[in-house]
Amino acid sequence: MKIRILYGTETGNAEMLAEDIEAHLAADHEVSCANLSDVAPGDLDPEPFYLVVSSTYGEGELPASAQPFAAALEAARPDLSGLRFAVFGLGDSEYEETFNEGSGKLAQLLAGYGARQFGERLTHDASGPDLPEDLALPWAEAVVALAEEMAGAPA
Ligand SMILES: Cc1cc2nc3c(=O)[nH]c(=O)nc-3n(C[C@H](O)[C@H](O)[C@H](O)COP(=O)(O)O)c2cc1C
Repeated sequence: MKIRILYGTETGNAEMLAEDIEAHLAADHEVSCANLSDVAPGDLDPEPFYLVVSSTYGEGELPASAQPFAAALEAARPDLSGLRFAVFGLGDSEYEETFNEGSGKLAQLLAGYGARQFGERLTHDASGPDLPEDLALPWAEAVVALAEEMAGAPA
């Protein structure tokens, strides 16, 4: 399956995780990875399955590298029906009021323009016991399997 990983980051954690996911899936899939800062709404081709990985900054805001993408999407208001995606968030429960809201905002934004979300958004807590990759690699396998299953299912 063709997979495109898009990450939004401020200090590089989401980028490292996106690259781990890319390496993990590359044995069985055609995978590419890009920073959301390098993606425009018109680049969103509906063919690949998108894995979106984003942190949260400020008070529940998108990280810096995802902000221009979100603003461009809101300005372009594209029809994203046909686009399939899943979201993994990086956050910290020390920010209890705004825990992982950045990844939630990205999911809402994409779904708001008609894209279809696969699986539950999974969130990592930097104050918790887990390493991000220990959650994200099984998550990526599960959502990709779900997308493959749905692609093969009758409409
Ligand atoms: C200044 C600052 C603000 C943050 N605000 C939030 C927040 O509102 N909610 C949250 O869940 N995490 C918040 N975080 C935690 C980051 O999302 C977390 O550290 C993440 O791993 C950073 O990933 P990145 O390096 O890809 O940006 C904040 C971190 C910093 C340093």
